[in-house]
Amino acid sequence: MTSNHFLDQPRIWYGGDYNPEQWPEEVWREDVRLMQAAGVNLVSLGIFSWAWLEPQPGQYDFGWLDRILDLLHAHGVHACLATATASPPPWLAHRHPESLPVTADGVTLWPGGRQAYCLHSEAYMQHASALVTLLAARYKEHPALAAWHINNEYGCHVSECFCDVSAAAFRTWLQARYGTLDALNHAWGTAFWSQRYGQWAEINPPRRAPTFANPTQQLDWRRFSSDSLIALHDMEVEILRRFTPQTPVTTNFMGFFKPADYRKWAHHEDTVSLDTYPDPSDSFAAAQNAAQCDLSRSLGDGKPWMLMEQTPSAVNWRPRNVLKQPGQMRLWSMQAVARGANTVMFFQWRAAKAGAEKFHGALVPHVGVENSRVWREVSALGNELQELGPLAQSRVVADVGILVDWQSWWALEQDSKPSTAVTFYDRLATFYGPLYAANLTTDFVFTDSDFANYKLLVIPNLYLVDDATAARLEAYVAAGGTAVIGFFSGIVDENEHIRLGGYPAPFRKLLGLRVEEFAPMAEGESNTVRFDDGATAACDLWADVIDLEGATALAAFTGNFFAGQPAVTEHAFGQGRAYYIGTRLAAEAMGALLGRICHAAGVMPPVSAPPGVEVVRRRTAEGRDLWFVLNHRPELATVTLLV
Ligand code: GAL
Repeated sequence: MTSNHFLDQPRIWYGGDYNPEQWPEEVWREDVRLMQAAGVNLVSLGIFSWAWLEPQPGQYDFGWLDRILDLLHAHGVHACLATATASPPPWLAHRHPESLPVTADGVTLWPGGRQAYCLHSEAYMQHASALVTLLAARYKEHPALAAWHINNEYGCHVSECFCDVSAAAFRTWLQARYGTLDALNHAWGTAFWSQRYGQWAEINPPRRAPTFANPTQQLDWRRFSSDSLIALHDMEVEILRRFTPQTPVTTNFMGFFKPADYRKWAHHEDTVSLDTYPDPSDSFAAAQNAAQCDLSRSLGDGKPWMLMEQTPSAVNWRPRNVLKQPGQMRLWSMQAVARGANTVMFFQWRAAKAGAEKFHGALVPHVGVENSRVWREVSALGNELQELGPLAQSRVVADVGILVDWQSWWALEQDSKPSTAVTFYDRLATFYGPLYAANLTTDFVFTDSDFANYKLLVIPNLYLVDDATAARLEAYVAAGGTAVIGFFSGIVDENEHIRLGGYPAPFRKLLGLRVEEFAPMAEGESNTVRFDDGATAACDLWADVIDLEGATALAAFTGNFFAGQPAVTEHAFGQGRAYYIGTRLAAEAMGALLGRICHAAGVMPPVSAPPGVEVVRRRTAEGRDLWFVLNHRPELATVTLLV
């Protein structure tokens, strides 16, 4: 890994996507003047400019990019220079129709929008590599170059391709994973429904089938498609590192984006970047934004990350695009800085005149900058951030780790489960929400993280778990850690085969219990639990029928045939403690329970603050705490520090 040198500077960088190819050059001069006025010092340049850089195959025009880079540099603006490979020009599909992506139903996705390429297309890869090579060679010493912006939101529209070329690539990937057909047949459980394969050529992607496709085939397809996205990224990284080994590379992630295993991916880049577009009309938007920010910090193990895109005002792609209220753009930007971002950037600099995104918000709106609320707010923020440079060298403090795992997410949400209403986002929100509300800052952790950094590990759902991870979790608790595990965890191995021996087999010893049966609830159905202190709470979605094997019940169900049996348990294990929650508790009860568990684990809220006030701490290398107090409410609030 190279050093993230520009993010290590005592500076919060400010700017956004800049698409000068959409404007005549006289506008560029106004752009750089306005950028200076607004405190903009970093732009993501030329993300969708392939057709402009290579109007016809092999005919390149870099003149305009030379000029704008020089102009930016002369005005103190750096570039996160795009590799421009996110949207191939129309000539690619015209010459190579086989480069177009195909859906599971066999439908070809045509050019005319963006991202119309198959993840395994030789023609795409060859032309993209040629362009990246020329860009790297030409700009490797340009003084404006701060970082490389690779492609754009990989997989945003096309995260998998079912064409014949992709089918062949899938077979090659499977051969590397399994070696023999026997191993594949075993892993895929093909004794079921007469699915046994006799030749590799018989294997296909999980194209539209008469009914449920083989679950392990589906899971391997997700692994393969995620790996294919990472491979496209690596193809560019390999070229860029040859020319500019010291220049950081990044590609913009989309937070909790299911198709790509971002933890695996983050090891392949220097800096994590986030595009985040919470819906201002959603009452959970601030919590969602916080979670995306926490993920971005955690993917890079706490390193500074880039807020690459957000809108200053509204987006254009929801059915109804509600504006951020005055002050909300600043508030959510500061939320990202509080949670470890060292850049605040937007899509996009100047509002487009034409094209599908012409109604998307921008720093320079259609009405211009005179008498513009948006411009007043963005230029005030840019100038304010210039004062906050020293913050950049501090790190976020978190005592709690929340375990998330893409493989388990994929497996959980496949078809033919006890309840398809049990989803990754629901499980995550159920645990993250109360911790966020209590101002207990959380990192996300992954199966390869060091669990020992945390006083408390929260595992909302780990449906799929491999032996090594199960053993590491057990060791963490045995050594004195506290873990809280949500229902339907530890159910299958990495092949999505049931772990026999009583659910959740790999965690039974740790939790001191056995789940005999799952009792998923119908829509609208609920039950009640009674806690050991007499308090009662509603619960819904799911109930586990639990037998204790050493654990203590903290709450028991009051209804259904398992009335009186445990719903929430606690178990002392080694030097530590493991809790299990076998249902979905109403939010308030969940908050109280997590508060109790945190207290027992020595995790205390650092403040007493009314609901809607968010407090986050960053700590300097010298151990000085910097407090961010973010008021999401319209009225003033009083906050008491407790540490
Ligand atoms: C992002 C994308 C940008 C722009 C933006 C609009 O997903 O990277 O290019 O389309 O959304 O909100």
